[in-house]
Amino acid sequence: MSSAKPFRIGLIGAGSMARAHAYALRNIEGVAITAVCDPDPEQVAGTAQTFEIPFTTAEHQAVIAREDVDAVVIASPDFAHAEQAADALRAGKHVLCEKPMVRSLDECRQVVAAADASQQVFMIGQVCRFSPGFITGKRFVDEGHIGELFLVESEYAHDYSHIHGHGGWRIDPTRLREPFLGGACHAVDLVRWVGGQPTEAFAYSNRKALTEWPVDDCTVAVYRFASGAVGKVVCSVGCKRDYTMRSVFWGTKGTVICDNTSTSITVYLTGAEKLELPAGLPAPFTLPLDIPVGTQVKMTEMENRTFIACCRGEQPPAMDAREGSRTVAACLAAIESAKTGKPVPVASDF
Ligand SMILES: NC(=O)c1ccc[n+]([C@@H]2O[C@H](COP(=O)([O-])OP(=O)(O)OC[C@H]3O[C@@H](n4cnc5c(N)ncnc54)[C@H](O)[C@@H]3O)[C@@H](O)[C@H]2O)c1
Repeated sequence: MSSAKPFRIGLIGAGSMARAHAYALRNIEGVAITAVCDPDPEQVAGTAQTFEIPFTTAEHQAVIAREDVDAVVIASPDFAHAEQAADALRAGKHVLCEKPMVRSLDECRQVVAAADASQQVFMIGQVCRFSPGFITGKRFVDEGHIGELFLVESEYAHDYSHIHGHGGWRIDPTRLREPFLGGACHAVDLVRWVGGQPTEAFAYSNRKALTEWPVDDCTVAVYRFASGAVGKVVCSVGCKRDYTMRSVFWGTKGTVICDNTSTSITVYLTGAEKLELPAGLPAPFTLPLDIPVGTQVKMTEMENRTFIACCRGEQPPAMDAREGSRTVAACLAAIESAKTGKPVPVASDF
């Protein structure tokens, strides 16, 4: 693609995450948002007006059929991702898909097959991989500074009491949205990113805070990794506290404590040496330290920049459909374990 030609994006969904992407895309040179769809006319009109998007429609097919759309950002409710991603890939569009990628192993295989059959980029939007704190913490693990990893843990604590989704899709009893997949996939993906693919999950869950919800609001899962390391993910969407994804990477020579809502990480090294590092400094980009990382804005921008660079062939896509599927599979194994009371193998046949 010539650098003079804008990279043209269609938004699928016009809710809060679609707007977060639109804000991010506005900061990226050479990018235009040319179309947006949403079945709710007020949502689509409002987002189109705010971001001066020329074409609006209720149907995702009308976006992916357009010649002035090179790529789509899927920010619709989880239940729509699989069909929309597969349709867009088949129509020859690159896809950046919000997490969770899909809701079942069958849907994982559907998206993987569509991605394999297309020449397009499919990227899953696990935005925490762009968190300066997590990037920096992972670097301490990868470069061996904390020795051999024996435990990796992350928690997704986010009070959803008033976060039901536009029209209530997050609490729709006819389309159960498990918080451990819908929300805690951030933490599960982080644990996988740092520790590798888990082979087995065991979990317990309960529903004591959001008793009117159709699904459990608290889950604690433990994972076994091929390396012998273990993992732990805590998910609470009924907690009464600020949002956090506090994460700890435990190694034989040191420990890293990091969070995507903090501008610093804490690292303990052998000999009781303790370092407080501003998040972002050793990372491959800089983050103004006077804004909370939890605003997500900078991370979403980095995610979109990476996606566009992949579409332009400037870098290989690292977070592809198989990688997205592995995170979904690890979430689903824990959810099944909490229901059955038994350890569940994590599927990997994608
Ligand atoms: N990366 C993150 O940190 C993050 C944060 C929040 C949400 N998300 C994800 O983003 C997605 C959207 O979440 P949200 O918070 O923006 O929800 P939202 O309720 O604010 O917006 C969803 C929008 O999608 C519309 N919609 C419903 N059915 C649709 C369809 N079939 N096609 C297109 N649009 C449809 C709704 O009318 C609504 O406007 C979800 O998958 C969610 O998990 C990611």
